[in-house]
Amino acid sequence: MSKNIVLIGYMGSGKSSTAQILAKKLNAKWLDLDTIIAEKEKKSITELFRTKGEIYFRKLEATSLQEILAQKNNAVISIGGGTPCYGNNLKFIQETPNTVIIYLNTSIDTLTERLFKERKSRPLIAHLQTKEALNDFIRKHLFERSFFYNQADMQVKNDGKSPEETADEIYNKLF
Ligand code: S3P
Repeated sequence: MSKNIVLIGYMGSGKSSTAQILAKKLNAKWLDLDTIIAEKEKKSITELFRTKGEIYFRKLEATSLQEILAQKNNAVISIGGGTPCYGNNLKFIQETPNTVIIYLNTSIDTLTERLFKERKSRPLIAHLQTKEALNDFIRKHLFERSFFYNQADMQVKNDGKSPEETADEIYNKLF
């Protein structure tokens, strides 16, 4: 039987690094939606937003998600922070058989600290100049997005935890 584990959560919540470690523990494939999109388009996500715009990215995100879920993967899949919040993406994931959705729940303050350093590589927050502005942005954005994130099958709070510890916790909860 093939099974998919899909990690969702805000930018900077550690989806990719946790998914990579969890996949290794499970002897499963690790698939990262943003990486797949970037490879397909031969452009970084930042470049894609800059040259083609967010709407183009969102369409590609939806079709790429459907493509990877259509395969019998046995994979741990990390998706973008916005993926479950657009179109029918969340419903599509929920309706894919043998698929478990896990929300990596990270506090606003932890996300602010992590994302401030990395914001230039994230098109939605690259323009924010101060930690205060970033903190405000995340607070509002997360409020809107939590509606979608909270529909996950399981949540793991990962403040102060390494991706290894988070992956272990998911593993222990699932098996
Ligand atoms: C986005 C998150 C990014 C990437 C794009 C849009 C979002 O992925 O898909 O920049 O809307 O939250 P990460 O969550 O991996 O940073």
